[in-house]
Amino acid sequence: MSIQADPADPRSGQVPPATALQADAAGFGGTPSANGASSLSVVDLTLSFGPRAILSNLQLKVAEGRVTALLGPTGSGKTTLLRTFNRMNDKVTGYRHQGDVLLDGRSIWHSGIELMSLRRKVGMLFQRPNPFPMSIMDNVVAGVKAAKMAPRNQLRDIAERRLRDVGLFDAVSGRLKDSPFRLSGGQQQLLCLARALAVDPDVLLLDEPTSSLDPMATEAIEELVRTLVPKITVVIVTHNLAQARRVSDSTVFLNKGRLVEHGDTKQLFENPAEEETARYVSGRFG
Ligand SMILES: Nc1ncnc2c1ncn2[C@@H]1O[C@H](COP(=O)(O)OP(=O)(O)OP(=O)(O)O)[C@@H](O)[C@H]1O
Ligand SMILES: [Mg+2]
Repeated sequence: MSIQADPADPRSGQVPPATALQADAAGFGGTPSANGASSLSVVDLTLSFGPRAILSNLQLKVAEGRVTALLGPTGSGKTTLLRTFNRMNDKVTGYRHQGDVLLDGRSIWHSGIELMSLRRKVGMLFQRPNPFPMSIMDNVVAGVKAAKMAPRNQLRDIAERRLRDVGLFDAVSGRLKDSPFRLSGGQQQLLCLARALAVDPDVLLLDEPTSSLDPMATEAIEELVRTLVPKITVVIVTHNLAQARRVSDSTVFLNKGRLVEHGDTKQLFENPAEEETARYVSGRFG
């Protein structure tokens, strides 16, 4: 359990046990770049659930302090790859992997790595918003409190700042003590983003973060994402090709668990090296 409740986990949404969360204060190790953003590399990763390989021999260097879009048809393994980056698949029945994922040069499965520390460094926003069953304000600072990142008397200010960062403060300023479940879906997603940002992650994973949002909220999130770099390394999964073009610096195209192409976003859309990529980005896939 972590500050990122997993919507695929039936226990998610419960309040994380304090003892588990306190482990998050432990250092992760590894050396981030000068601007603070972390590097993430996938080294010959093959991942299976049961007998079926979901990701095959993946090699990928995620550009540090940039936005990388992850594209691919449904079932191609995008969510599985994102969930791997903060070890959310580890407990899935039948899960196995070969190869490695390196964060700042160090394996995320290294025995010295505290899982909570990894998840504080590598934050995630899911497709469906997943506020915790606690007040709006407590949601924003849940991870900050758990990792003892700030004294109690600063929590209100931190919550306000993070809510302002995501453009939600004015809408919720009069009800910080209320339940988040009466907020609209878009507002809940912004709240979860404020929560993810509050712990100052080095990497932020966004899994179709705007798929249930209206164009205004979508634009707000896209603009916000651009302000996160170069301090944070961002990976965004999207089915919206126009969004990938607007928001990302580089793009990865996955198909059937294989990495087909990875390149500069403009190049990949305008002059893809692979015919498979060309068909996908021009909408001729299938
Ligand atoms: N827990 C699991 N157990 C078994 N198979 C799984 C599990 N999670 C995902 N899969 C399988 O892994 C494959 C990749 O799924 P994944 O969710 O990563 O795809 P995706 O690219 O995110 O698709 P979408 O665009 O629809 O979200 C699918 O065939 C899926 O059925
Ligand atoms: Mg998915």
